[in-house]
Order: sequence, then C-alpha cells, then structure tokens
Amino acid sequence: MILAIESSCDETAVAIIRREGQTAELLTSLISSQIEIHRQYGGVVPEVACRNHAQRIRPLVQQALDDAGVSLDNIAAFAATRGPGLASSLLVGLAYAKGLAVASDKPFFGINHMEGHLLSPFLKEGTIPPHLSLIVSGGHTMLISVQAHGQYQLIGRTIDDAGGEAFDKVGRMLKLPYPGGPEIEKHAREGNPKSFIFPRAHLKDAPFDFSFSGLKTAVLYQLQKLDDPQAHLADLCASFQDAVIDALVKKTIKAALQTGHTLIALSGGVACNRALQEALTCAAQNAGMKVQPTPPALTTDNAGMIALAALLASENRPSDSLEIGIDPNLVLATP
Ligand code: KG4
Ligand code: ZN
Repeated sequence: MILAIESSCDETAVAIIRREGQTAELLTSLISSQIEIHRQYGGVVPEVACRNHAQRIRPLVQQALDDAGVSLDNIAAFAATRGPGLASSLLVGLAYAKGLAVASDKPFFGINHMEGHLLSPFLKEGTIPPHLSLIVSGGHTMLISVQAHGQYQLIGRTIDDAGGEAFDKVGRMLKLPYPGGPEIEKHAREGNPKSFIFPRAHLKDAPFDFSFSGLKTAVLYQLQKLDDPQAHLADLCASFQDAVIDALVKKTIKAALQTGHTLIALSGGVACNRALQEALTCAAQNAGMKVQPTPPALTTDNAGMIALAALLASENRPSDSLEIGIDPNLVLATP
C-alpha cells in the first residue's frame, strides 16, 4: 500500500493505492480544493495556496487513512509530487510525505506531476501499454510517445500558452469565473462553433508543437469589435473551443500516424472537456485508432494519479533519497 500526496497547485490531495494482482486498486482519493478561495483573485495566488496546503494536509492524510480503514503501519511507502508546480505549494506536500517516511522508516518516492497525468488513464489496468499520450492541463500541453513505463519521448509541446491556460485566459476576457475551462465548455454547448473563424496555428518547422497565444489575441480583437460581447457569449465560447480542439485533435492524429501508435491516451484537466473527448474519439476511429480516456475523477489534479505513478515507480526503480527536493520546472520527457 502506498500513500501519496499532491500539492503542486491549488488542490491538496491524498490517495492510498494498493496492487491487486495485475491491476491497481485506489482505496481512497481525497481532494481538498481551494478553487473557491482563489476565484476571488481570478487565478491562483501562490502564498495563499501554500498556507492552505499547510492547514489542510494533516487532517486530509488522517481522513484518507480512516477512509481506507488502515493505519500508518500498513503503508509500505510514501510519495509526493516534487514538480513541476508552484515551489511553495510543492514544498508542503513533499516535506509532509518525507516526514511520514522518516517517522515510520519507510521508503519515499518523489513523483513528477506530469507522469501522474500521463499514467492516469491506465489506473484500472495498473500497467502501461505503448501509446501516444496527449496531456492538456493548466500548465502544459504535450504529445509524448510512450514505449513503456519510464520510456517517454517528447513529440510536441506548446510553445506559448498551455491548452488549459488558454481556456482560463479567454474565460477571464469573457468575464467568466475562474477556472475558465469548465465555464467555456458549458456556454459552448449553446453556441455555434462556426460563428467566428479563429486561427489555428501551423508551425512550419515543428508540425507537432502547439501555439495558442495567437488564438487568444484573435479572441481579444473580436471582443473589441463587438458592441455587446456578452450577447455573443455562447458563440464566442463555441468558436474558441472549436479552434483549440481542432488543433489538438489534428496534431495528435498526425503524431500517432508518424510514431506508429494506434492507441491514444488523453489526460490532464482539459481532458474532462466532453467536446474534446468526442472529437478525438471520432478522428481516431476514422484513422483506425483507439482512445483511452481518463476517468473523470482523475482528470484535474488529484493524488490518485500520483499514487499510481509511485506504485509503478516502486516496482521499477529504487526509492528516492530523502535529500531529494522539489523542482518547480521538473521535465518529464525530451525529444
Ligand atoms: O490538470 P489540471 O487540474 O491542473 C494542472 O496541472 O494545470 O488542469 C487544470 C486546467 C485548467 O486550466 C482548467 O480550466 C482546465 O484544466 N479544465 C478544462 C475543463 N475542466 C478543467 N478545460 C476545458 N474544458 C473543461 N471541461
Ligand atoms: Zn495537473
């Protein structure tokens, strides 16, 4: 049994996982979200996030143990996200998990948050097949060719804003509450995606890289031209969302063809967008490929995915020294 902590941004999360034969079983996965606190500022305030993690972590660990019906003695190893993320937030979870490991003389694993996202579609299976991974979160957008656990090759990434970041920034322009992603998806359902033609960036020398900053600027210019932007809210949301999805889906299918993968996994906060799931599934089917979605509870930040990454780490590599620190810019994969 492994207890894992996630605190890289504005969710304090604790999960306990155990190996069940070939599969993995998540005994509990708790998330204490700070979204309501940060909403009043229109985004995450690092100092406020850090203080809230510090207040919430101890009772949340106790609640996770109670939920799973186990005690600290039953836990074989402890894990925490060590990056990428906000430095002060990462420190809270990492220090707490290390403290538990020291106190109980058990191994510790420092986990890459992005590996958690990458593995999250396969939590039930408990094993990682070769596939192309599309991760779209608030901080990252990446296409990664996965050969096996730990063998990750970066195929494409965003050269400016992340997919979720674009949703959040456009959400703010449209005066929608933070985070913008779920709000835009909700309004987009009532709108016509063909109302406004927004640009899809084509990067000549990097066909699998993404760019969303031009799209963001195009939305801004369109807003300045409209007398009453709020009257066009649904159409603006639908047209913007369509442009993001179009870029994500087309490049993903192209990258799958290039790398020879017939399985595509979709993860990260933006992966709970239904329109994206449907468009990717449809395009994949047309190309003779399959899509592995992420269970909804594991799309936005959670500790279940960190626990799975720690479980696989414990089976594939030595534990980490307690000297290991946080790394706000931790890299998952290189070209
Ligand atoms: O993975 P995540 O929880 O945090 C990071 O590691 O960044 O992703 C959060 C991001 C936010 O930008 C949020 O707006 C976006 O995921 N998001 C969505 C949806 N739900 C969350 N974007 C589009 N559609 C959604 N339904
Ligand atoms: Zn994340």
